[in-house]
Amino acid sequence: MRKICILELLSTKQVKSFGSIRNDEVFKLVKSIKSSAGKPINFTEKITSTLSSATCRAAFGKVCKDKDTLIKIMREALILAGGFDFADLFPSSKILRALSWNKLKLLSMHRKLYEIVDGIIDEHKANLAKMVRGKGELDQARDSTRRGNGVFGNEDLIDVFLRVKESCELEFPIDNDNIKAVITEMFSAGTESSTGTISWTMAELMKNPRVMAKAQAEVRESLKGHKLIDTQNLKYLKLVIKETLRLHPPIPLIPRACREDCEINGYFIPAKAKIFINTWGMGRDPKYWANPESFEPERFENNPIDLIGNNFEYLPFGAGRRICPGMTFGLTSVELPLAQLLYNLNWKLPEGMSPDKLNMIENTRLNASRKEDLYLVATPYDPSITM
Ligand code: HEM
Repeated sequence: MRKICILELLSTKQVKSFGSIRNDEVFKLVKSIKSSAGKPINFTEKITSTLSSATCRAAFGKVCKDKDTLIKIMREALILAGGFDFADLFPSSKILRALSWNKLKLLSMHRKLYEIVDGIIDEHKANLAKMVRGKGELDQARDSTRRGNGVFGNEDLIDVFLRVKESCELEFPIDNDNIKAVITEMFSAGTESSTGTISWTMAELMKNPRVMAKAQAEVRESLKGHKLIDTQNLKYLKLVIKETLRLHPPIPLIPRACREDCEINGYFIPAKAKIFINTWGMGRDPKYWANPESFEPERFENNPIDLIGNNFEYLPFGAGRRICPGMTFGLTSVELPLAQLLYNLNWKLPEGMSPDKLNMIENTRLNASRKEDLYLVATPYDPSITM
């Protein structure tokens, strides 16, 4: 399944093909923020809704009539599951009582979620069958350009799964349960990490006006005379995102099982022991980083440390065989909205809040998103006024 995800769903080509959906959703986001110009907005909520919508449209194409319910259940399930993992690590009677209640709630959400996705899969099959010219099989519905239920008449993720399922090329058959499990995992792994990264980046930019000014100047210069932002040219913004991921990796503890007995710093770790790699702690360790607590994107300039797990002091996407398969998708989902938000709007904190009072505490769940939603005030940028 991981191989299908990498080859078919999360490849650079596929990520590019979802570009129009992403552009469309980000355009709506900017428009909606402009309509509340000068007033405080819940930035975290806005960005979550944008990325959830984009993922939903990429995964389910036009067939997503229960989109809002689906997104609501996914989000609630994630919050519950986050607490659940933590309780698993540090059980106490109080936590365990809450755990069994959470488990029941999770099971009921899970059932509801699967019912919705089942309906979506059935509708996809019916639509594909309708596309068949004459009385053929489902694969006749797709010509060389791979038509499907996608927003622009192309394949969406469910279509891709159905095609792979029918082609019988896999070593083992896949069924609807596999499709539902992967779609749910993609949705939760993807949306939460990307929205978290965008919110943390904006919070860091609000606390660091020098960095905000430099990033905005780059985006505004890069878009001069162009209609669309090409994020490839935004070198400084990429450094800003790298620095955000150092201080705020969305998955702060990466789980692994120890393959053989070993000893680290005098501690004996038996084979099969569950261990957690503390990427959050490593990103702030003064042994590896100068001024570790300060936000300095320039530290990554002309620095060979990459995002693909070659440097063990910096592992925001993990490393090795289980490294995040959604890295390209995730980075694109973070870069584009940030570039548009920095280009189109000027930002400040709500009246009476100073940058040093901005709460930078993570929640206690296993995904380290912000504990408090981020509230910001935006005003539209007018390119004819030079600052
Ligand atoms: C800023 C964005 C993201 C970050 C920082 C991130 C980070 C991570 C990390 C640290 C892991 C664990 C890797 C390991 O164990 O070595 C992971 C796993 C995973 N990620 Fe991401 N991720 C992001 C976006 C996405 C997106 C957009 C998707 C899908 C659409 C995705 C899908 C997954 C999946 C399916 C796994 C589990 C892989 C496995 O267990 O084999 N991620 N991610």
